[in-house]
Amino acid sequence: MTTPASPAAAQPASDAVKQAALNAVNRYAGQKGNLLPVLHDIQHTLGYIPDDAVPVLSEALQLSRAEIHGVITFYPHFHPKPMAPTVLEMCRAESCQAMGANRLIDHARQKLGCDFHETSQNGQVSLEPVYCLGLCAQSPAVMVNGQPHARVTPAKLDKLLDKGA
Ligand code: FES
Repeated sequence: MTTPASPAAAQPASDAVKQAALNAVNRYAGQKGNLLPVLHDIQHTLGYIPDDAVPVLSEALQLSRAEIHGVITFYPHFHPKPMAPTVLEMCRAESCQAMGANRLIDHARQKLGCDFHETSQNGQVSLEPVYCLGLCAQSPAVMVNGQPHARVTPAKLDKLLDKGA
């Protein structure tokens, strides 16, 4: 009996994915422990880290596919699938929790009709957790398309999402 291949093993990488992966590897060639910057680079280029980048990286960096997949899934910052045009990252760490982040998160879930690691029902917003944005003194904090926002209330969040910023 044979074991079914994983999706990453079953599909050859598209030219765009292979090129993005190899460009990233070349950019950080020779640097010890370069997997994280390489993954950041791919996500910056493609907007996410496709499954079929994993075998390309495995061969180029001489790391196991399991090791690479483990790093991608360990860090919430890395996205294994394409994101919506607006990415809302909401802080779930202690200071923000103490200042009402859970209530804010419930509001976002209800407004968007989705949970973390999902996309809103209208396909416009991806909701992602983060664990501290360095704005603890101005909690609760969120990031919209890489732009940080502090002391966010449900009303302020609605305004941010309505203008897509
Ligand atoms: S705990 Fe949320 S920004 Fe630091």
